[in-house]
Amino acid sequence: MVSFYVKTLGHGYYYEIFELVKNILPQSNVKEVKDEKVDISRHSFLLESILIKEVSPKTITKLYTPADIFMCVSELYYRSKEDDIQYKKELKRLVKTGVIEVMKRTFPERNFDWGILTGMRPTKIVHEMLDKKYGKQKIISSLITHYKLNKSKAELLLEIALSQRKVLKNNSENKVSVYIGIPFCPSKCLYCSFPSFSIKKWGHLEDEFVENLIKEIEAIGSFLLKNNVKSETVYLGGGTPTSISLKNMEKILKNIRLYFADNKEFTVEAGRPNTLDREMMSLMKDYGVTRISINPQTMNDKTLRIIGRKHTSEDVIKAFYKARDTGFDNINMDLIIGLPGESLKDFRKSLNKVITLKPENITVHTLAIKRASELNKKLGEIELPKTKTVNAIMDFALQCLRDNGYLPYYLYRQKKMLGNLENIGFCLPGKACVYNVQIIEERQTIIGLGVGGVTKALDVETLEFNRIPNVKDIMNYNRRIDEMILRKLENPILQKTLAKQQ
Ligand SMILES: C[S@@+](CC[C@H](N)C(=O)[O-])C[C@H]1O[C@@H](n2cnc3c(N)ncnc32)[C@H](O)[C@@H]1O
Ligand code: SF4
Repeated sequence: MVSFYVKTLGHGYYYEIFELVKNILPQSNVKEVKDEKVDISRHSFLLESILIKEVSPKTITKLYTPADIFMCVSELYYRSKEDDIQYKKELKRLVKTGVIEVMKRTFPERNFDWGILTGMRPTKIVHEMLDKKYGKQKIISSLITHYKLNKSKAELLLEIALSQRKVLKNNSENKVSVYIGIPFCPSKCLYCSFPSFSIKKWGHLEDEFVENLIKEIEAIGSFLLKNNVKSETVYLGGGTPTSISLKNMEKILKNIRLYFADNKEFTVEAGRPNTLDREMMSLMKDYGVTRISINPQTMNDKTLRIIGRKHTSEDVIKAFYKARDTGFDNINMDLIIGLPGESLKDFRKSLNKVITLKPENITVHTLAIKRASELNKKLGEIELPKTKTVNAIMDFALQCLRDNGYLPYYLYRQKKMLGNLENIGFCLPGKACVYNVQIIEERQTIIGLGVGGVTKALDVETLEFNRIPNVKDIMNYNRRIDEMILRKLENPILQKTLAKQQ
């Protein structure tokens, strides 16, 4: 394993360096050193510097002292000391640029397409530039020169942000979106760290959970109604909400209809095809669900077994046609790039099978190695595709989906993604999922209910978000339901935000 020792003098951007290095080399070790002497004799006027070293198991080799960064940084320091915030921002950017330069020279086989960007929502930067009325050319060149993105990622971001403007513009500002987390699944998938519990093992907590969830929906729903706040979209996610009983699902859907009736988009993350019988589908249709996900992840049965999905590719196809029969005209299907043992050929087969079904949305994820997942524990035993392979798969996916009429409409990144790639949501024209755009672009208040639901109250004055998270496990949720409700009802920012919306 490669180890990096980072010494920051003065600037304190260790965390930013850590994030950047981890994005490019997820399995590396990044440590801060405070007590080692750094040779800055050639630039004795320096106040800020970084030092990166590679430590191999046997020898310690100093790879690079980024003297050129020192120069830029110090020069900049003297130029713009007066403007402190601007200075710090620019300093951080230069430090990160230096790290990228160092790493490019040392690990040329890695993916540096995202330049210095480590955040989850890179399209937000483009929206900020669009808000400032920057032209398309200026945006592209800023992404390339300032943030060090490669041209195709810069163009992709701009394309996505422009398409989102239409979705965001169509939405009146005085609405919220509602997320409801149902934390049950038929079994736990190898890679997953979402709040989800096996229904077999934890099913005894289902009834109590549903009772509490309804209590939360009633309390927060009445609060919204009292403030005359409308819900633009509702997203029932998890977990796999369709793992629960029909009876409980009906109770939840009834309450959603009662309190968040005016939504124009209502998604249920049906996810696992073996949770979808005719009754469940009809129930969802009857209660106004407009969009569902039926997620294959891969159409390769061998991989499905390895990742613990407990369904076959045939089950996915059957569930898809059943959903069409029930009248669902907006279906999403998730695929993952980089599953154990999968090659470009495997992914090509999966994507082609999914495209044949013509779902309205296809979401292409890149495998992320989540700390709390089984995959993380078993990393030594499982062979994952190399950077070159996952990059080739993403290039293929983009091209193939475009060739078949799908357009990228939202993009986000996570920590420890294979190949330093991204997740991209594709849609047929006019079929973008509004909730997905709202949650990624953070331009609307989100009300988060249920296990793992996070409320994000948009402070209309500062345009900053105030996070009000619910707990992530069922037992605590059941025990602390009143606190979860009060946290929201008594939050001054949420009160102010909702009052403003009237
Ligand atoms: C919140 S999960 C719920 C979906 C649903 N329960 C299912 O699995 O079909 C949403 C999606 O995230 C993706 N996902 C989950 N864990 C992931 C990981 N570690 N790496 C990449 N994608 C992941 C999967 O494609 C999954 O369908
Ligand atoms: S990926 Fe979906 S089905 Fe699998 S454990 Fe996570 S939430 Fe459940």
